[in-house]
Amino acid sequence: MHPRDYRPEPGSHAGRMIVVTGAGDGIGRALALALARQGATVGLLGRTLRRLEATYDSIVAGGGPQPALLPFNLETAAAGEYDALGAALEREFGRIDGLAHVAGIAGDPTPLDHYDVPTWCRVLHVNLTAPFVLTQALLPLLRRAEDASVLFTSCAIGRRGRAYFGAYAASKSGLEGLMQVLAHECEGTTNIRANSFDPGPVRTALRLRLYPAEDRTMLPEPAAVTAPFLYLLGPASRGINGQALAAG
Ligand SMILES: NC(=O)c1ccc[n+]([C@@H]2O[C@H](COP(=O)([O-])OP(=O)(O)OC[C@H]3O[C@@H](n4cnc5c(N)ncnc54)[C@H](OP(=O)(O)O)[C@@H]3O)[C@@H](O)[C@H]2O)c1
Repeated sequence: MHPRDYRPEPGSHAGRMIVVTGAGDGIGRALALALARQGATVGLLGRTLRRLEATYDSIVAGGGPQPALLPFNLETAAAGEYDALGAALEREFGRIDGLAHVAGIAGDPTPLDHYDVPTWCRVLHVNLTAPFVLTQALLPLLRRAEDASVLFTSCAIGRRGRAYFGAYAASKSGLEGLMQVLAHECEGTTNIRANSFDPGPVRTALRLRLYPAEDRTMLPEPAAVTAPFLYLLGPASRGINGQALAAG
């Protein structure tokens, strides 16, 4: 089945504990709400506490399982903060069934001649290095799950680079490589699978930064693109590993 055709049964994700990065806004927020509606306990990881709290309140108001607030800055976090996050999740939940890497930043669309080097480093760190370190920190908890899924949010520009997208394109391309390495290392030796998914154009702040002149009224809202994420994070996609999938 193609992930875009997935229609979850009620309670499809009940009993699963899933960490979503970027859960305060855009696709991450919509995914956290959708997972909770399907019965998952969601770890809401993101930079801005008040946005995470808003996602938390919406989940609780909707009758979802009580989520966990995980304020965490992927740009500045030091090694000890990743360790502390892993320890807190271990104490609270004992295992993790899913890790959805959704947080990301766009950088500034600029020709390479003029691409700002500190911006390049920041984008590579948030979009690629931090997902690696977070995955590494949480692997022991993912190994404890019977069926764990690590999902990387990809982008067409990461699969075929395009002028002016600089560090954003390079970071998303690197994320595909990270996904492939993780998938290969987990194949046959663990219950962990790793895949990437490109949702296509979605009406968010990140999209506006990358395409400021675009007519946004034609773009889908984040809530309209969550079903394939649910599929790849849930039991229905068990056995799918190392795949670079897309909405289109
Ligand atoms: N929108 C699209 O058209 C599109 C298409 C393909 C792929 N994607 C991918 O989808 C993912 C989500 O993007 P979006 O469009 O939903 O963008 P968004 O609305 O701008 O959301 C990005 C999220 O990342 C979080 N974030 C940024 N920097 C962070 C940091 N240093 N530490 C922790 N969290 C941080 C933000 O937290 P704050 O709210 O606290 O700032 C925000 O919740 C990205 O990986 C993007 O590349 C988007």
